[in-house]
Amino acid sequence: MSDARELADDDLLAPQGRVVLISGASRGIGAAIARRLHADGYTLSLGARDPTAAAKALGAHDPARVMTARFDALDAGSARRWVADTAARFGRIDALINNAGILRMVRFDGDGDGDEVAMNEMWNVNVIAPFRLLRLALPHLRKAGHGRIVNIASTDAKRFRDSTSSIGYVITKHAVLVLSHAAKFAGWDDGVRVTALCPGAVETELIAGLAGATPPAGRMKPSTIAHTVSFLLTLPDNASVAELPMNTRLESTL
Ligand SMILES: NC(=O)c1ccc[n+]([C@@H]2O[C@H](COP(=O)([O-])OP(=O)(O)OC[C@H]3O[C@@H](n4cnc5c(N)ncnc54)[C@H](OP(=O)(O)O)[C@@H]3O)[C@@H](O)[C@H]2O)c1
Repeated sequence: MSDARELADDDLLAPQGRVVLISGASRGIGAAIARRLHADGYTLSLGARDPTAAAKALGAHDPARVMTARFDALDAGSARRWVADTAARFGRIDALINNAGILRMVRFDGDGDGDEVAMNEMWNVNVIAPFRLLRLALPHLRKAGHGRIVNIASTDAKRFRDSTSSIGYVITKHAVLVLSHAAKFAGWDDGVRVTALCPGAVETELIAGLAGATPPAGRMKPSTIAHTVSFLLTLPDNASVAELPMNTRLESTL
């Protein structure tokens, strides 16, 4: 395996030999990121509730550069085993893509008890699970030399759009933004760089039929997000992109 500290042309980081964890790689944005990074030449560890679905979504691949593992955001043990098994199999971890996430509609005038259940579920999947993976991966990312973290946040991490938004989802995505900045401080001295990627509407099942979302024709494709993650992973330590909003529509500060 080549050393990740080797630099490609123009000081960009080369994919070869770098091991990337991707959560929620079974479909949607996570699956698109996995396909793109595999094509780039990265070594991948795909975490999914159904690892077979992640392998299937990836399609034809080099088995020497891919492992799949069971990862359930609501099961702390599955996160511990995924990270430990990845380090054991490949000997290093160079990047973590915190992608797995859910959206449940929560409003002030909804069903009170049901809304609190949905709030807790989103909090656990969208915030606690990425926090847990960060804690588990950071020691490995620090050792790697140029560790990278990309947290898939949302434009909902940057503002409260309007009353059609899910209050609970917006709260959790704002928390992902703070988590990203905290991780940036935690890893900075060891060359770890962190990006909160903040896309607007992306055409996946997450926002199917969602009122207030950009209509389907105007949505980004998952491959656009994958392309952006691929780009971010090549940037050297002195080109930190802490937040990257990507919007489908015109808004005053996004
Ligand atoms: N689509 C958008 O417009 C948009 C915009 C901005 C940000 N995002 C964010 O992008 C990320 C990916 O969303 P997506 O649009 O690709 O959604 P998606 O198509 O619904 O896929 C969600 C992914 O998260 C996984 N997941 C859900 N609950 C999980 C759990 N308990 N444990 C492990 N994995 C779990 C799913 O796995 P299963 O197959 O097992 O369910 C699936 O792989 C999310 O964080 C989302 O908030 C999406």
